[in-house]
Amino acid sequence: MSFDVQKVRADFPILDQKVYGKSYIYFDSAATALRPVQVLSAVEKIYKEFNGNPHRGAHYMSNQTTVAYEAVRDKVASLINTPKREEIIFTKGTTESINLVAYSFGEAFVNEGDEIIVSEMEHHANIVPWQMLAQRKKAILKVLPITDKGELIIDELDSLISKKTKLLAINLVSNVLGTVNPVKEIIEIAHKSNVPVLIDAAQGIQHTIVDVQDLDCDFLVFSGHKLYGPTGVGCLYGKEKWLNDMPPFLGGGEMIEQVSFSGTTFNELPYKFEAGTPNFTEVIGLGAAIDYVNEIGLENIANYEHELLVYATEKMKTIEGIRFIGEAKNKASVISFLVGNIHPYDMGMFLDKMGFAVRTGHHCAQPLIDRLKIPGTVRLSFAFYNTKEEIDLFIEAIKKVITMF
Ligand code: ALA
Repeated sequence: MSFDVQKVRADFPILDQKVYGKSYIYFDSAATALRPVQVLSAVEKIYKEFNGNPHRGAHYMSNQTTVAYEAVRDKVASLINTPKREEIIFTKGTTESINLVAYSFGEAFVNEGDEIIVSEMEHHANIVPWQMLAQRKKAILKVLPITDKGELIIDELDSLISKKTKLLAINLVSNVLGTVNPVKEIIEIAHKSNVPVLIDAAQGIQHTIVDVQDLDCDFLVFSGHKLYGPTGVGCLYGKEKWLNDMPPFLGGGEMIEQVSFSGTTFNELPYKFEAGTPNFTEVIGLGAAIDYVNEIGLENIANYEHELLVYATEKMKTIEGIRFIGEAKNKASVISFLVGNIHPYDMGMFLDKMGFAVRTGHHCAQPLIDRLKIPGTVRLSFAFYNTKEEIDLFIEAIKKVITMF
């Protein structure tokens, strides 16, 4: 299928909004993506037509919801290519998925003196839960460094791994630098020492094909709202062998088999990790988002976004005083930059008034910003609904902002 950007833009009514009387140009999809009408209608349909608590009622609407909710588990399993639907756990998002693993894997497998490895380019969601685990268990957090261009120094991984290493947690794509990390290679290195690997695909799942069997990752997490789905929903993929041996994270309804005051036995996978009424509306909305992305084709999306990345990078090189933050060879459609001494917050404020939505600051990755010795960045993140015309307007706007300083 060929890719028609104007056709897909028509699916995103929010793009017709004006801000400050100007066209709304959305370059902040890495923070949260826009949602197509197909997702909005799926969510509306649940509230209007078949609201019911899944797994909990014998009545018609509860059954309808259960079927729709469980169908999304199959869609996610197929999206990331696992044949085992019970390896998919619905969560609130990437952050909750990582916290689940940090708590539950940590309880089962991490002891005093053990080590967890993360990289220098992680966002807080893939740092803080491991720090909390390390504190709880008196374990040690080690950090894989990066180059000034924003690539992992993979050669150092072997020497970081020791007999005490219990897990390596690393992102597929950096939210600040756009770097696409060679996670398959990293997983191979870790597995040689029997170290399991968690892949944070929050910034990757929407840009590339993710195949958990090919990667052989032990865990993989992502959020629905960066994949054109609703907020408040995400996924954890975990190999059955780990999930079976991990204790539950949250306790409550549905995650149980039998409860009495003398004790509780737990449900089987995946329900052991889905306590309480699930966010079924958002899960079903996520299903619609996956259908939407599949219809366009992740390969078409990746090709078009790469075209935007190259186009914008080349054009931006002509801006005097520009400095790109993140110049990895393999990048997703994220561009972080600074111009001269203009503070990113000032730049962002002026761009906002001109109708551009960009993100500025530390992007929830303070250790990376400290490592790069910068005050933060201005970040553009493109999705398949962005256009080269929008990029041209952005270049003009940046040039105008520069003249104001
Ligand atoms: N992690 C999200 C971002 O990069 C919020 O903007």
